[in-house]
Amino acid sequence: MSNTQNTMIMAQPDDWHLHLRDGNLLNNVLSFTAKQFARAVIMPNLSPPITKVDLALAYRDRIIQALAPLSSFNPLMTLYLTEDMPLSEVHKAKEMGILAFKMYPAGATTNSHSGIKDWRKIRKILESMQKNGILLLIHGEVVDEKVDVFSREEVFIETQLGPLRHEFPELKMVLEHITTEQAVEYVKTEGEYLAATITAHHLLYNRNALFKGGLQPHYYCLPILKGETHRQALLQAATSGNPKFFLGTDSAPHTQNRKECAFGCAGCFTAYHALALYAEAFESMDALKQLEGFASFFGADYYGLPRNTQTIMLRKVAHKVPEYIEVENERLIPLRANEWVHWQVV
Ligand code: DOR
Ligand code: ZN
Repeated sequence: MSNTQNTMIMAQPDDWHLHLRDGNLLNNVLSFTAKQFARAVIMPNLSPPITKVDLALAYRDRIIQALAPLSSFNPLMTLYLTEDMPLSEVHKAKEMGILAFKMYPAGATTNSHSGIKDWRKIRKILESMQKNGILLLIHGEVVDEKVDVFSREEVFIETQLGPLRHEFPELKMVLEHITTEQAVEYVKTEGEYLAATITAHHLLYNRNALFKGGLQPHYYCLPILKGETHRQALLQAATSGNPKFFLGTDSAPHTQNRKECAFGCAGCFTAYHALALYAEAFESMDALKQLEGFASFFGADYYGLPRNTQTIMLRKVAHKVPEYIEVENERLIPLRANEWVHWQVV
């Protein structure tokens, strides 16, 4: 990485957790990611979900079709775990180069109702994933009305993740989009088979952002933003140089009418300016030098993939985030719409 005060050249990053959706949305959001990132791990929570290898390969084709000509962006596909997944899908996935399966606790978030009620019911699948070196990506929140929404990650770690890791100690896991100091501590102290992704929005905002001047639906995501001490713990972890923490935007586009309504969807659309947001978070810690490891190296290392050799340049120039992005007859509102970001990919 080379660094002057106003520019930074670094190996091209990857996004290890991304929602691209399908159809019009896919066609309108993909270019933002493809301009910044070489690869991205594509979440399978479409409706209906991507539960089979054949569905994942067809989805991959649609993504490739939606790319600009000559783009070398590489979507890394995942499968959505269900309690009735046939064991044969694990072998097929291995054969077809699918690297990871995603576990959504049923009911935890967007399109998760076909997810897992009890991981003990998919023991055979998990065992075979462990044997075949397929990663388990985890949405780490319990689904329990009695558990406070701000505590769901912490309780998941205590009651679900501990026993799961105990039973499958060599199953490589990623605790996705961590939000709490408890998650940071847990990931730090567990061994080489556990890592975590961190979003830009959880590095930049605490839960006050949800209520600033009124309800702010575009800051509503799951796991929900937490208090300031948690944000500080995430910033420390991301900028520490510890390779167990790496970039995953969890950019999750929903159209304006699905965000600004009763029962508004969870998800922050950050693909538009993801790297700029991360750069700002790292700069706030005077840790821009650590950005390249976090964004471009540690994820690839953990997934066992080669590091990117091509580079990108970030420049420190203020840029106003548009009010919206047009998607056919609808609008997508990026995080921080109508406000400024301070870095730009050139
Ligand atoms: O905020 C979120 N949005 N969290 C998730 O886990 C899912 C995602 C989505 O798909 O919209
Ligand atoms: Zn997600």
